[in-house]
Parts: sequence; structure tokens; C-alpha cells
Amino acid sequence: MATRIENKKLSKSSSAWMKEHIDDHYVQKAQKDGYRARAAYKLLEINEKTSLIKKGMTVVDLGSAPGSWSQVAGQLVGDKGILIASDILAMDTLPDVTFIQGDFREAEVFDAIMAEVGNRQVDVVLSDMAPNTAGNSAIDQPRMMYLCELAVDFALATLPEGGALIMKVFQGEGTQELRKQMQDDFSKIRSIKPAASRPRSKEMFWIAIK
Ligand SMILES: C[S@@+](CC[C@H](N)C(=O)[O-])C[C@H]1O[C@@H](n2cnc3c(N)ncnc32)[C@H](O)[C@@H]1O
Repeated sequence: MATRIENKKLSKSSSAWMKEHIDDHYVQKAQKDGYRARAAYKLLEINEKTSLIKKGMTVVDLGSAPGSWSQVAGQLVGDKGILIASDILAMDTLPDVTFIQGDFREAEVFDAIMAEVGNRQVDVVLSDMAPNTAGNSAIDQPRMMYLCELAVDFALATLPEGGALIMKVFQGEGTQELRKQMQDDFSKIRSIKPAASRPRSKEMFWIAIK
């Protein structure tokens, strides 16, 4: 029987996207390994290279849905670790993950995550947040930069010296300025483009140590 996808008339570009998605090595691997998204392999590679997330740590995962980074971070921090995740979208529950749904651009959401953190020391802040892209960089890039700036503010408010921010950026207008500003508050910043990040994507991950 033909699948719904085969039955549906797809435009040339969306059927090319669908083929690429289905053929994608990381999509298949994620299905096999039980991860909710191929993005899991980006965080796995970043942590292989940096060893920043360790057993027993407290980690905040911003832009967490559908939850593959939370799955990876949960495995890395283990039973004694604490994981707080947040997204504008709903996320299916994960064991031992506290999830707060809301728009991170709203002060109440920022404050609700801060309240959940309480007096705990946050060891690592993750941000894989990205806006729904309109395909127009004049609109997408400022939206992305704003989310990055908020993630940096959150990291500065919660991380102790030596704590880490792992954040997705889209290389383009505003990134150089943000990186320059961050150099005042973070002792070290490096960039990683994981193998699972599509080469044609402007996506890059910054690893900043406070
Ligand atoms: C690339 S996905 C994250 C994938 C996730 N790290 C994973 O591994 O499953 C980007 C996420 O950013 C979220 N996002 C975008 N704008 C947001 C906002 N204003 N507040 C909170 N989350 C936002 C999206 O809903 C989306 O789930």
C-alpha cells in the first residue's frame, strides 16, 4: 500500500527535501538509537570534543523540543544530575526532565526557568533554539540573533565561573558583534560544526566558558 507521503502530490523541492530526509544517515541512525531527532548527534559530537557535560551536573536545555538534546544530556548527567528543559512548543515527557513550556522571549518564561533553577548552580546551558525560518535572511537572522542574545543573558545570569554555554548560531549578520561582546564576559569561546550539521546550513555551535 502506498504511504500518505507517496500519495500526496509533493512539489519538486519538497519531494527532494523528503527524499534527502528519509535517506539521511543521521535520521536513520536516530530512529535506530531511539533519539527523537537527528540533532542528538550534534550534541554527542560536541560533548565528545569538549567533555563539558558530566555525571551529576545541572543542565538547562533551551529550545528543547522534540527532546533529543535532553535525551543526550540526561544520559550524560545520569541519575544524580538535574535537567530543566524549555520550549515554545509542547514536548513529550522524558524521565527526570522538568519541562517548562513558553516563549523564551517573554520575561515570565525567562523568570519561570530561573525560578525552577532556584539556588542551584547551573553547570551547562544549552541553546539549540532557532525560530521558524521564513527563508528570508533579513527576517530570520535578526530573530535568531535575538534568541541568541537572550540565551547569553540567561547563561550569564545562571553560570558560575567555569560554567559553559553551548549555543547554536546562524553565521551571518550580527554574529561577529555578538561574539565580540561575549568576549568581555566569557574567558574562552570556540566554534564547532558537527558532522551531523548539514554543510550547506549556516548553523554553527559556539562553546563559551564563563
Ligand atoms: C532545532 S529545534 C531544537 C531541537 C532539540 N534541541 C532537539 O534535539 O530535539 C529548535 C527549537 O527552538 C524552539 N524555539 C524557537 N523559538 C523559540 C522561542 N521563542 N522560545 C522557546 N523555544 C523556541 C523551537 O520550538 C524548536 O523546538
